[in-house]
Order: sequence, then C-alpha cells, then structure tokens
Amino acid sequence: MNAENGQNITVYLTEEQINKRVAEIGAEITERFKGESVYLICILKGSIFFTTELAKRIDLPMNIDFMTVSSYGASTVSSGVINVKQDLSGSIEGENVIVVEDIIDSGNTLSRLLQLFRSRNPKTLTLCTLLDKPERRVVKDVEVDYTGFVVPDKFIVGYGLDWDQKYRNLPYIGFVED
Ligand code: IMP
Ligand code: MG
Repeated sequence: MNAENGQNITVYLTEEQINKRVAEIGAEITERFKGESVYLICILKGSIFFTTELAKRIDLPMNIDFMTVSSYGASTVSSGVINVKQDLSGSIEGENVIVVEDIIDSGNTLSRLLQLFRSRNPKTLTLCTLLDKPERRVVKDVEVDYTGFVVPDKFIVGYGLDWDQKYRNLPYIGFVED
C-alpha cells in the first residue's frame, strides 16, 4: 500500500484487529482496578491514538495526563538518552498509574520513565504497551503488564507511530519496506 507520499507500507495489523485487542486490554484493566480510579499517562506523541482508544474501553474513574519525551528524530536508531520535554500536569502520588506506550524497542525510554515515576510514589505502577519488539531489548528491567501485540524487528508506522513524523495518522499498523 502506498501511503500518500513516499515509502511503501505493508499492512501488518488492521484497524479491526487493533480495536479488538485494545478492547480486551481495557476490559482486563477495568477488572484489575475494580472499585478504584486510575491515572493514565500517555507518552506523546506515539501513544496518543492508543491512549484515547484504550481510555474509552476502561470503565473506571480516570485522569488522563501527558508527557513528552525526546524521540529518534529522523533516525530509526535509539539514542539511549531520553529528555523530558513536557512533564505531567498533576501529582501521581498515591495514584494507580498506568503508563501507556506505543512501542517498546530497546526499553531505554521506559526504563528511565519508570524510575522517574516510581520516585513520585504512586500507589501502583502499571505498564501497558500496544506493541513490543522483544528482539531489540537492551534494558532487561522493564516488565510489561499489558501488551497488545508482539512484533518482529522491523520499522513500524501508523496508529500513532511515525517515520520522521510521517504516517502517524494511518488507521492501521504497517511496516516501512526497505
Ligand atoms: P526505546 O527507548 O528504544 O524502547 O524506544 C521507544 C520509542 O521509540 C517508542 O516509544 C517509539 O516512539 C520509538 N520507536 C521504537 N521503535 C519504533 C518503530 O518501529 N516505529 C516507530 N517508532 C518506534
Ligand atoms: Mg513513544
């Protein structure tokens, strides 16, 4: 499939497959935190689509907050360094925090983010990612609680994921062909 201008994109997960899986995760989280409230943290920009769809599938009182961290830029290789560009708007102390990520690759981003969130004393800290690329993991201490799909070691775009800021708006998830 040719998405607007540029690379050929091979569809890997359709919108229907993604929506079904997101609803399943939402139901599991609803069950897990029954009788409590949750504090969803969307890691911008990549996880914006996943966060909003997931939030609609969680039947609990919730706060939704956002954090912006540095990304790869035009490169497709992790720098291993993260930079918090925009912090949360509220305190997470005593909250059931659910960190919502688009994809875990090397694990560097989340390893550092989890350290930061832990230092702010949430009641619980849960990690939820739409995609996981375990073959690429460098950091070993990142334990994922909810994973949408395990994906192979290819560069993925769509449903929030970008290639040099392009393709985030694709409603499906695909591979950029070499
Ligand atoms: P990590 O620090 O290497 O785990 O990288 C995490 C971040 O890199 C993700 O939140 C994405 O923003 C970005 N990323 C990693 N792999 C891909 C990919 O295949 N496509 C698009 N973005 C990616
Ligand atoms: Mg991201």
